[in-house]
Amino acid sequence: MHEGIWTTILGLFGLMTIAVLILPLSKRYKFPYTVLLAVVGIALGLLVDATHSAHLGPVSDLFHSFESFELTSEVIIFVFLPALVFESSLSIDVRKLIADIRPILFLAVIGLLISAFMVGGAVYAVSGMGFVVCLLLGAILSATDPVAVVAIFKDLGAPKRLAILVEGESLFNDATAIVLFNILVAMILGSADADLFGGVWNFLKVFVGGIIVGYLLARVFAWIIGHVGGIALVEVTLTISLAYLSFLIAEHYLHVSGVMAVVTAALVMGSLGRTSMSGGGWHLLSETWENLGFWANSLIFVLVGMAVPEILSVFSGGMWLTLVVLIVVAFFARGLLTFAVLPMLSRAHVAADVSLGFRTVMWWGGLRGAVSLALALAVFENDAFPEDVRNFIAALVCAFVLFTLFINATTVGAVMKAFGLDKLSPADLAIRNRTIARALEDIGSSVHRVAEDRKIPADVATRVADAYARRVEAIEAAEGESAPLSDKDWLKIGLMATVGQERQGYFNQYSRGYVASAIARELVAHTDELMDATKAGGVDGYGRGCEKILGFNWRFRTSMWVQRRFGIAGPVGKRLANRMERLRTTQAVLSEVRKSGVDDIRSLVGDAAADELCLILDERIERTMSALMALRAQYPEYAAELQERYLFQVALRQERTDYARLHDEAIIGAEIYANLQNELEDREDELGKRPELDLGLDPETLVGRVPMFKDLSQERIRAITRLLKPQLALPGEAICTKGEAGNSMYFVSSGAIAVQVQPHPVMLGSGDFFGEIALLKDAPRTADVVAETFSDLLILERRDFQKLLDDNPDLRSTIEKVAEERLKG
Ligand code: CMP
Repeated sequence: MHEGIWTTILGLFGLMTIAVLILPLSKRYKFPYTVLLAVVGIALGLLVDATHSAHLGPVSDLFHSFESFELTSEVIIFVFLPALVFESSLSIDVRKLIADIRPILFLAVIGLLISAFMVGGAVYAVSGMGFVVCLLLGAILSATDPVAVVAIFKDLGAPKRLAILVEGESLFNDATAIVLFNILVAMILGSADADLFGGVWNFLKVFVGGIIVGYLLARVFAWIIGHVGGIALVEVTLTISLAYLSFLIAEHYLHVSGVMAVVTAALVMGSLGRTSMSGGGWHLLSETWENLGFWANSLIFVLVGMAVPEILSVFSGGMWLTLVVLIVVAFFARGLLTFAVLPMLSRAHVAADVSLGFRTVMWWGGLRGAVSLALALAVFENDAFPEDVRNFIAALVCAFVLFTLFINATTVGAVMKAFGLDKLSPADLAIRNRTIARALEDIGSSVHRVAEDRKIPADVATRVADAYARRVEAIEAAEGESAPLSDKDWLKIGLMATVGQERQGYFNQYSRGYVASAIARELVAHTDELMDATKAGGVDGYGRGCEKILGFNWRFRTSMWVQRRFGIAGPVGKRLANRMERLRTTQAVLSEVRKSGVDDIRSLVGDAAADELCLILDERIERTMSALMALRAQYPEYAAELQERYLFQVALRQERTDYARLHDEAIIGAEIYANLQNELEDREDELGKRPELDLGLDPETLVGRVPMFKDLSQERIRAITRLLKPQLALPGEAICTKGEAGNSMYFVSSGAIAVQVQPHPVMLGSGDFFGEIALLKDAPRTADVVAETFSDLLILERRDFQKLLDDNPDLRSTIEKVAEERLKG
């Protein structure tokens, strides 16, 4: 075997073994993992140096192999960075990120620039180095690294928003720092001039370009993932390729920001993935990436530690003053941003409020890590820089990274505790207590039962049961002490829980194959909106949210407009078919939540709130059902076609689970199982795509349905058909408004139309017409006319009105007679 390969393998897995074994240690001694990794790395680095010429057999081999693992900037940037960035972005909730995008972008872009200039300026004043070099140092040192802090957040259960602020900032500012770094390096090496506008333009191009590349690639990959037949291994592997390819394509080929490309790709994948992949793929995805992230983090911190002794060997006595100034100014600059500028942004309503506790943690938790070190190494390795510049940058960055790692990372947990950020909010606390109380309720009796079964003496069981009873008492006492939540609060908590169940229900429907990926995505987006509305406005907010979901959105209206303007019915047909699928799925999921979901949370929210929840859900189910019925009534054949398809899907799914069970229980062998599965897949393919909905807006058919035209000659009918324009009206749509000028009249081909006159509205149906008075009398509309259901109308414009009446005297007399009667009231 080639010597290089076995050394590499020995080194890699030797290091990996050492690194991961540190995790149990860090858990036992409650010490940040990353800090411990760096410490061990430094120790290893020193040990390898010290035993350089000793002959220790395999141990020497091992140490020698570590040396071959020299950490270069390229390794960090091309091997570690894509994985680290993808992994942290994947789990970020895009909606929450967008809610705080302004403070995050401000800190990551403007904040980084301010900090880089302040640090650069201060270092320039004391170090005697050139200004651009000092600015370069400032840029490198302003990129924060969230790894250590986020791990601490997880341990302490920090609020989600804080984690997103810190993580979001650090992801975006890595990108900013790298871009600024490249610009400054080009200036120092003489390949570019200082040019403010050029710099800003370049920055925007690289930053936004990265986002576009990441977005497009992720969409392409999500599409491919949706077409690989639900094979989890393939789906997940594709996401790994996505991480590395998006970085490489952006950075290397298109010269835009690779970090931004990876961040965007991961965010897109995180939000589309669950409705593009199979259920198994989604699970595997989070597990695989957790693993990859863990490996990358463990290795990089040990490797960083090992590189420290060599880099610090160029730290000279003259750098001490600079280092102290650097530390003071870097923290001062960050403090200025978090304590002074951020509140100003909130006051100017540019950014949402960030509490003092959050800001303090953001300030103190702004650690520097792998990216800073990678950039410093890139300078250190580059012979084009003068030696003093290389040493200056590398030593100071390394020292500063160590400072934040040893001082900040080890104390940020205490800062969080000081602000009570590790504690639950009163509402969460109340939920927690009720959850425990519910779990503990039955434990006393089951302890006795188990003891009896296992022949354990009753007094032993009583001791255990009593211990539990005391815990329940303590919790009840604690609940009595804290301010109790009102019924309204519990109802709101219950509503949010049912929205959560609903969301989960849609994912289940998707993974069972009952609903298409795009529809599932829309439904999930609806529940997200519903959750926000409920959080902000309680029951009323929920009500408004539901209203909005049942309504027709702008996309629908646009496709309606396209149909009316250009007579293209395809898009409306597709939207209506989607609506049918959506309503059916919502109806199924809500019924499930109503049937068992509410009972699951009854003991949590209490009877009063649970009963109220049932009423709210009943109402929503009814409204969903009637919206669905309205559509089915309009397109009965299509509805039947879809229902049949759905039942086939349910049957297929049942078959599939049955076979899987028989196979699991070893009743059928692998060969038969494979054969059955193949057959199932064939039938699934046969089921094929959802059929298209034909709106049936064919003028001849519609005219044929209007009795008044029936007795006319074929030729007349054809002439009339040419004058009439078909149009679909939506339930609730206002067709005429009282007092407005009118330019057309309408024949009802199908549906129900309400004319809003006193004392009762008049209902019109198939064969009726309206809107004639405005044309006959040349007067404003005499009443509001609203569609009650989906209705097919035939429109006659004013210019064709006279012609039609002139050609058809019978029609004229009918219309005039009806109009006179209507005018009489
Ligand atoms: P127009 O006035 O153009 O617009 C409103 C329409 O409502 C009107 O024409 C009639 O077609 C219809 N309309 C008004 N009053 C009545 C009524 N009493 N009964 C039925 N339809 C009516």
